[in-house]
Amino acid sequence: MVVVPNEIVDQFREHFQSAVTPVVYRAPGRVNLIGEHTDYNLGYVFPIALSLACYVSIAPASHGLFRAFSRDLARDFSIPIADLPAAEPRHEWSDYIVGVAQQLLKLGFPIQPCDLYIASDVPAGSGLSSSAALEVATALALLGGRELPPLELALLTQRAESQFVGMPCGIMDQYTSVFGRQGAALQIDCRSQTHQYVQLPDTVQIVAANSLVKHELGTSAYRERVAECKEAVAAIADIDPGVLSLRDVSLEFFERIQDSVPLIPRKRARHIVSDTQRVVDFALASRHNDLLEMGRLFVASHRSMQYDYEITCDEVDFMVDTAIKLPGVYGSRMTGGGFGGCTVTLVKPDAVDAFQQKLTQAYRERYNLTPVFYDCEPAAGAGRMI
Ligand code: GLA
Repeated sequence: MVVVPNEIVDQFREHFQSAVTPVVYRAPGRVNLIGEHTDYNLGYVFPIALSLACYVSIAPASHGLFRAFSRDLARDFSIPIADLPAAEPRHEWSDYIVGVAQQLLKLGFPIQPCDLYIASDVPAGSGLSSSAALEVATALALLGGRELPPLELALLTQRAESQFVGMPCGIMDQYTSVFGRQGAALQIDCRSQTHQYVQLPDTVQIVAANSLVKHELGTSAYRERVAECKEAVAAIADIDPGVLSLRDVSLEFFERIQDSVPLIPRKRARHIVSDTQRVVDFALASRHNDLLEMGRLFVASHRSMQYDYEITCDEVDFMVDTAIKLPGVYGSRMTGGGFGGCTVTLVKPDAVDAFQQKLTQAYRERYNLTPVFYDCEPAAGAGRMI
């Protein structure tokens, strides 16, 4: 549902039966253009922050509780503030906000009783980082203007997700939500935890298409991939002890030694090493307005996820295969963690309408589902709204 920041203030008051004016924070979702699963291998990623965002409004309260309402799920949550430090995960939406609160407490930021009203227009389960948007907006709301360096904000929200929610994610989603910039993509170096802003050609539109499927093996397969990448590092370190992560492996070196790596870790490593290189090539092509090359890299990245990393599924493969045959399409690939969610496609601006119509028609005929499209204009990172 679309969120209108001004309306949230009224909704907050109505829901909590309160006359106070809450402060509203916004944190965006993201679409990753290229470099998938490379973040926890300390490689490069290339996302943009979206205008789709999570809004958390907050006001202090005198009831002694940490209380929250999720408008999208129509669910309330509350625990006594004194119970926050030792709260355990409940395996539901509130884990994201409790995890963030605990991380802030660990850093020495006291949390006072408060009400949080949460509304998001980042579609959940779509690969557009609805959870990072929620974590970052919650952290800003709970900080309430207290200073925290932006990188620390990204890292603490990532820890909330990996340590409390239990998803061993990399840094990309939270980092992008914090550092996103209007009009620019970010090339993030996940080893040095630094980034450069990169201008995208203005002769292309970035369109995300939601397949509306999310196959359940998501988190377990993610863990499996993390473990398989570690196995690959161990095998390669037997040859070169200087290799501490797949980031330390060049494509050329990998091609030379790959036969000494067992089959599954070899395939996983091939994806990571080649996709990290594709990020560098994509950023260069973008700077040169080389849309054909950008499109080629998109498709190569998808095939690498499909055959080597094995994280796609029939529905997104079908979307990509259909998209790349349509006029005005430079390239298409799945984005995000995998097993469903969104594809992202580079399209000539005047071909976007026809592209959406044709893809909708084909996807409906095949899966009886109507994909949802999002126009991905790079938007600003997280901050206070009202
Ligand atoms: C999820 C994780 C990210 C990243 C992507 C895949 O979104 O949260 O850290 O690993 O998957 O690129």
